[in-house]
Amino acid sequence: MRSVFGVVGWAVGVLAIGVGACDDHEHEHEGEATGALCPSENTLSYANFGQTFMADYCVDCHSSTATGSARRDAPVGIDFDTIAGIRLHATHIDEHAAAGPNATNDEMPEDDPKPTLEERTKLGQWLACGAP
Ligand code: HEC
Repeated sequence: MRSVFGVVGWAVGVLAIGVGACDDHEHEHEGEATGALCPSENTLSYANFGQTFMADYCVDCHSSTATGSARRDAPVGIDFDTIAGIRLHATHIDEHAAAGPNATNDEMPEDDPKPTLEERTKLGQWLACGAP
């Protein structure tokens, strides 16, 4: 009996460490996946939504043409001035700036101008469609 409890105690300990590590990971990424779905009759596209959204709110810092202090500390290589860059980082964009049934993420942008909730919701849907 004693050894069985020993094993259970060990398993609980390992589980606690696992959960702790997971919390740290979440914190690094800040927001959560929004769980946004692509609307069945999606009309959002790069041309009529994504490009303007990124230009208005993100590309000031996250641009492949911005270097040094112009990036205002935005990580090098996290750039949204092309559709390829957006698609590459779609999951992270969702977790930082989009809204959906499971989360409203407003870590980005850090300063004004900021998108409205409606715009964040559209961003989540557009990304869920694969950023067409
Ligand atoms: C004023 C400059 C600025 C603007 C505008 C801005 N960001 Fe950022 N972004 C940063 C900085 C600085 C960081 C790094 C610090 C951090 O992660 O909080 C960052 C980090 C990120 C990351 C995390 C990258 C990684 O390594 O995981 C994502 C994703 C992101 N931004 C998306 C966006 C989106 C989407 C927008 C527009 C809605 C946006 N940002 C607007 C400055 C900016």
